[in-house]
Amino acid sequence: MAKSWSEKKITSILSSRDHQILDELLDAADRCRRKSVGPKVFLRGLIEFSNECRCNCFYCGIRNGNLSILRYRLPNNEIIALAMSAFDAGYSSLALQSGESDDPQKINEVVQFVQAIKAQSLARDNTGQGLGITLSIGELTFDQYKALWEAGAHRYLLRIEASDPRLFSQIHPPGQSYEKRLHCLDALKTIGYQVGTGIMVGLPGQSIENLVRDLQFFVERDIDMLGMGPYIPHPNTPLYMKQVPDYDPFIMTLKIIALARLMMPDINIVCSTALQTINPRGLELGLKAGANIVMPVLTPENYRSSYSLYADKNYTRPLKLIEQIRGYGYEVELRTWGDSRHYAARQAQK
Ligand code: 5AD
Repeated sequence: MAKSWSEKKITSILSSRDHQILDELLDAADRCRRKSVGPKVFLRGLIEFSNECRCNCFYCGIRNGNLSILRYRLPNNEIIALAMSAFDAGYSSLALQSGESDDPQKINEVVQFVQAIKAQSLARDNTGQGLGITLSIGELTFDQYKALWEAGAHRYLLRIEASDPRLFSQIHPPGQSYEKRLHCLDALKTIGYQVGTGIMVGLPGQSIENLVRDLQFFVERDIDMLGMGPYIPHPNTPLYMKQVPDYDPFIMTLKIIALARLMMPDINIVCSTALQTINPRGLELGLKAGANIVMPVLTPENYRSSYSLYADKNYTRPLKLIEQIRGYGYEVELRTWGDSRHYAARQAQK
């Protein structure tokens, strides 16, 4: 399937400003998703458990150098309690996210709460599954990834942010290396995780050619999940006010999601909060473009505003979000984990 998508064809779709081409693309992607992964949308209750971060990514509002936000880290018992109340409310999968730290003590804490969430949810669950756990806590060592896997996490999101090494180095400080990111993605796959990656769309210096390569990168890497969103400038970051490309980041993100769905029919694709933030129709059109995962934010209200990756982050109450998804004609699936079908196919081939 992927092979039939030539560079020329992708480039022409991404460069086009014709609304009819966009409409046709979204229709094709919606048909493809209904056929390959069905009309279901799976939820991941998102708990942003800490905004402490050792990195200094030039685009990110929780970068270490931003001294104007309050730093927080939820204590383990609060994280576990939140996870269990999500489970009681009907969620079968969670995404646990934070800034990056490879401090062995901190990772050990994550191992502990993942174990506890797993054990407690299994004890209350008659399907024998317990809560499905996705982690998104950055670049760690192989052994740390392995310990988290053994604790019960089975999916991991680590965006490449920009698959072109040059663009990657323009948006990250010298200490953060592209090779290390690739190495981490490899490690996650070796261990057995369902691996997700993604990019930001509309970054300063990003060309259409870069985006075409990004799509090829996802295919080549045989990823299981994709999480992408438009780049939204944050005032307390070095990239703020830097000139952005002349394409519309919202429309371009929709196109990339749609092409990703068509090129990789059986992967899971997230309809990101950034997409919902940048345009009031973000949820509706993100789903139409082929996204099948939504992550309602379950982070407690008093911490939510400190998890400010970008400006004016959207917050929609989970129940409202579920209502909206149904309103757009999709089924909200709460009972099952909603693992990536691509992962299952990958495992079957082994
Ligand atoms: N705009 C959009 N997305 C951002 N992220 C970080 N900063 C921004 C921004 N300014 C995204 C990154 C990261 C994810 C957790 O949030 O892609 O991987």
